Amino acid sequence: MTTSTVAHLLTQELKHTDIEVKGWVRTFRANRFIALNDGSCLQSIQCVVDFESMDEALLKRITTGAAVHIKGGLVESQGKGQSVEVQVNSIEILGDADPEEVSKTILQPKRHSLEFLREQAHLRTRTNTFSAVMRLRSSLSFAVHSYFNKNGFYYMHAPIVTGSDAEGAGEMFRVTTLDPKNPPLTDEGEVDYSKDFFGKETNLTVSGQLEAETYAMALGKVYTFGPTFRAENSNTSRHLAEFWMIEPEVAFMDLAGNMDLAEDFMKYVISYVLEHNKEDLAFLEQRLEQEDKSKPQNERAPMPLTEKLRFIVDNNFKRVSYTEAIDILRNCKPNKKKKFKYIIDEWGADLQSEHERFLVEQHFKCPVILFDYPAKIKAFYMRLNEDGKTVRAMDILFPGIGEIVGGSQREERLDVLKEKMAELDIPEEDLWWYLDLRKYGTAVHSGFGLGFERLVMFATGMGNIRDVIPYPRTPFNAEF
Ligand code: 4AD
Ligand code: MG
Repeated sequence: MTTSTVAHLLTQELKHTDIEVKGWVRTFRANRFIALNDGSCLQSIQCVVDFESMDEALLKRITTGAAVHIKGGLVESQGKGQSVEVQVNSIEILGDADPEEVSKTILQPKRHSLEFLREQAHLRTRTNTFSAVMRLRSSLSFAVHSYFNKNGFYYMHAPIVTGSDAEGAGEMFRVTTLDPKNPPLTDEGEVDYSKDFFGKETNLTVSGQLEAETYAMALGKVYTFGPTFRAENSNTSRHLAEFWMIEPEVAFMDLAGNMDLAEDFMKYVISYVLEHNKEDLAFLEQRLEQEDKSKPQNERAPMPLTEKLRFIVDNNFKRVSYTEAIDILRNCKPNKKKKFKYIIDEWGADLQSEHERFLVEQHFKCPVILFDYPAKIKAFYMRLNEDGKTVRAMDILFPGIGEIVGGSQREERLDVLKEKMAELDIPEEDLWWYLDLRKYGTAVHSGFGLGFERLVMFATGMGNIRDVIPYPRTPFNAEF
């Protein structure tokens, strides 16, 4: 006989047959009822033990956290709360869990704070909340590949170690094998990176975009989906030092096409989980409702989780130029009453998360795509508009999250790009290959980056980005 998953047993297909199942004991109640969970789905299956006929020593070893192998019959449940249950014939303890040790961990079945759960991130996926979040994360990443595959995109693996700074923001982690205590020095007394492993300065990538552009100019439609790294010292609930980014890049597509693609893509991945992850979403929705009860009215979620996701799928994203947005912000109540931390008084100001959230949550009350930003506050590679001061950039802002997507049409004109790089002191030698693209059959092209964890936050309703990635990396924290 083969072992079944709990998810399979709960479909009732195997009712009235002998089954085997392996999993971890969540609880063992009244010396009789085991709640067994194997991670295949949110629910545990109830396994009923006939304690009178069971060896006392064995019974004692059925404890919260233990791994067990159960053989028995799948029958209609007598009790409430489940359709089927397992009548246990035999139970083998695969791995014991000492109750005293367990009592010090988050496996102890009671409410734990998210902060405490984070300290035991190696165990937290055994809780309902984290198993639901991580199943959703898995499902969303499958949906990402599915969308691009259905739409004729090729999956491209951008390098993790690189010599370039794609965003030009200087927030890079250095990669080196030099001895920090005794590095080779140049005649000027500076560290001689020509002696380093790669013979030059290298870092972990902040974005796969520049390499993806080279592939779009050969394969037409490509996307990357990989880890990216930023050494920005922002200790917020929306920033990680290591996060996963999805970056499509398309030849012959302009900014309007880019917005259409991003909107269609976001709607697809969200409707995918609405359809395939109903049980986990329902659980997370309840969890949020519970959490909201302890919050003041104005901090509560405006709508239940699944309704919020449905709203994204069913409504058009509002497209607004940066200039229009600045007008709205300049004249809005929180700006006039100086409620914002950063007051907006002139065109050119960079938008902070408080402004983005005002636009989305208070003003438009729907997802917003802001476009045509001032060139000064955006990266070097963005296509300059005819006005000479704005670039074809777009950011998608989501309720509760703020910026979730950032993208642009790329500067395809060699001379304009060179001028821009000179202005920003970006050496041409570093990006000679990127400039080459503009020499050999240059063409209009565009793409965007979606921060995968921000998408998972949105889809699960989790409020802290540290709770949607298995092992978060943030300033002063790289445990596990
Ligand atoms: O806006 P960003 O910096 O854009 C780029 O990296 C472009 N190269 C993308 C492209 O056009 N191909 O980052 C894109 C998205 C942001 O909108 C945000 O969702 C996410 O990546 N992001 C982060 N997520 C978590 N932690 C951080 N530190 C992040 N920084 C950016
Ligand atoms: Mg951005």
